Amino acid sequence: MTIECSNLEAAYSPALRRPILHNIDCKIEQGEFVALLGLNGAGKSTLLRSFVGLVPYKKGEIRINDTIMNPRTIARIRHDVGMIFQGGGLVKQLPAIDNVLCGCLSSLTPWQTLWGFPKKKRDRALELLDNFGIQELAYQTTGKLSGGQQQKVAIARALIQAPKILLADEPTTGLDVIAAQQVMEILARLHRDRGMTVIVVLHDLGMASTYPERAIVLDAGQIVYDGKCHNLADKFSKLNQPKTEENIIKTR
Ligand SMILES: Nc1ncnc2c1ncn2[C@@H]1O[C@H](COP(=O)(O)OP(=O)(O)O)[C@@H](O)[C@H]1O
Ligand SMILES: [Mg+2]
Repeated sequence: MTIECSNLEAAYSPALRRPILHNIDCKIEQGEFVALLGLNGAGKSTLLRSFVGLVPYKKGEIRINDTIMNPRTIARIRHDVGMIFQGGGLVKQLPAIDNVLCGCLSSLTPWQTLWGFPKKKRDRALELLDNFGIQELAYQTTGKLSGGQQQKVAIARALIQAPKILLADEPTTGLDVIAAQQVMEILARLHRDRGMTVIVVLHDLGMASTYPERAIVLDAGQIVYDGKCHNLADKFSKLNQPKTEENIIKTR
């Protein structure tokens, strides 16, 4: 599935004295693994959330596989796009398996969940946790798991609806090096083995140079670099300079 943004502009922010996102033009092809980078407040989370219709926009359009995002198409689009929110967005008091099962709530009717989730879904949730090596933690309270284990639960929750695109907002922030690598390996495997389109917001330029193939760098709500993950530190050193045409590097 492809994601295409044309001339996207999100709401004006009086505090920033500019739109939160503006002049966003990008196309992400089926099966790409993309890092979304930028300093704090650059607009990374806003852009990612706009791909699942969570951000009203003033101008431009977003097309997911040629379907224009609008109130009528959002539900269908959300079925194909899994999102891992910043911080995981898990219900900490629930067992891990229930958090995973929450990911398929939108595809089930109230009757189907009246006496708990169907066995097929429970089996699938356990299978996903098993894929990530944490099946034995399925019935543990999520809040008691380590940060890395919780992030795996959050990925399993996004995957249970079998999305074609996976969006992850800072899935490695706050994790130790090993756990962060494990999370990136999982995302890389989904991209490599299943051909999934993966877009991940990262803070760590080292991670961004190791796993994804393409980087999109945002600065003050605009795309300032879109290309290969080479010399990212160099791209970042340009971010605080006044924005002139010469500073806008666009290689694709
Ligand atoms: N709903 C909102 N209303 C007003 N300002 C917002 C809203 N969402 C985000 N912003 C502002 O837009 C800017 C970009 O936010 P965000 O996308 O969260 O940045 P990032 O994820 O790159 O750190 C920030 O300055 C933030 O304060
Ligand atoms: Mg953010």
